[in-house]
Amino acid sequence: MSQTTPDPHERLRERYARIVAQLEPLYAKVRDPQARMASAAALLHHKMPHFFWTGFYRLEDGDLIVGPYQGPIACMVLERHTGVCWASVDRGEPVLVADVHAFPGHIACDAASRSELVVPILRDGKVLGVIDLDSPDLARFDADDAQGIEALAGLLSTRI
Ligand code: SME
Repeated sequence: MSQTTPDPHERLRERYARIVAQLEPLYAKVRDPQARMASAAALLHHKMPHFFWTGFYRLEDGDLIVGPYQGPIACMVLERHTGVCWASVDRGEPVLVADVHAFPGHIACDAASRSELVVPILRDGKVLGVIDLDSPDLARFDADDAQGIEALAGLLSTRI
């Protein structure tokens, strides 16, 4: 009998797929965007033990304002066009940062954060906000995380 070692990349991709699949029926019950973002942050944070901060920044009247999140208290408003979240908004694409100390303008809401992944939530080419993940470990996020979070952002783009 042959036994195959599960591929860690495959396992991670499956975990993200399960999270998205778990949220879809929950979103069918409640339309409120805050409730939907709060449920996504809670689910992600608890299913992904390597996430130190998991949450949302919403683009409101030109400001990035914190949305539902899990983890230590964070900056409520981010200085415009500075840091990783704004880089993702301005580029309209995910930003993966292996070492936040090496990212010019990085906003350190908590000194323990060492790596970060930010993915924009887009609707019709317009940025609604971002999903922001922080880890206390260097280079903790990779392309699989970016893809998994992009799938979640895709779900949220029509649900918030
Ligand atoms: N580090 C982010 C700010 C948000 S916190 O990580 C929660 C940034 O540089 O935009």
